[in-house]
Amino acid sequence: MISPNESHPQPKPVRDSASEMVEIVLPNDANPLNHLLGGRLMHWIDIAAALAAHRHCRNYVVTASIDHLDFLVPVQVGDLVILQSSVNRAFNTSMEIGVKVWVENYIASSRQHVSSAYLTFVAVDRHGRRLPVPPLLPETEDEKRRFAGALRRREARRSELEHRKAARQQ
Ligand SMILES: CC(C)(COP(=O)(O)OP(=O)(O)OC[C@H]1O[C@@H](n2cnc3c(N)ncnc32)[C@H](O)[C@@H]1OP(=O)(O)O)[C@@H](O)C(=O)NCCC(=O)NCCS
Repeated sequence: MISPNESHPQPKPVRDSASEMVEIVLPNDANPLNHLLGGRLMHWIDIAAALAAHRHCRNYVVTASIDHLDFLVPVQVGDLVILQSSVNRAFNTSMEIGVKVWVENYIASSRQHVSSAYLTFVAVDRHGRRLPVPPLLPETEDEKRRFAGALRRREARRSELEHRKAARQQ
């Protein structure tokens, strides 16, 4: 049974679920050039985004989609990878999460932007049934900018999804 609080959840601020994950790049994460594998970074991005999604909705979540990814600079074995994630906007059962990835070389004391990603997660119960998610309350200027952008990106995603569905049926 859905309680009144679950059917009309209170808006939650971004800071309640914003998360940070740090990984050290080990030889097993790298290609023969000692650069971090793109697939490993994609896995970490998915986990970092899931942290913020779980904390926002306090439920199970599944990844519905990951938008375009660019890898801007190579990451070397021994570097630290810092993944910052936060909810950009919550819709009905889905949430857009933004992840920003940095590489830190603690010997040189340098930090560079590696990648940014938008992911959509859907909240589900243990049987896989979709659940409503609490609305997001953006507070800072950056949070309000990301909140507005998330709606535009959702509309673009939906239209692309319709095109892909139509193409599959041809
Ligand atoms: C993601 C999933 C739950 C969507 O289910 P569905 O029956 O297609 O649901 P709907 O079309 O009604 O969409 C439900 C929500 O997901 C969103 N959604 C669905 N497909 C999406 C996609 N490809 N990209 C972004 N959002 C998507 C919808 O916009 C909708 O959001 P809203 O409720 O906030 O308005 C379902 O496709 C699924 O379970 N996929 C497998 C997920 C998985 O195994 N992930 C990897 C392991 S975690």
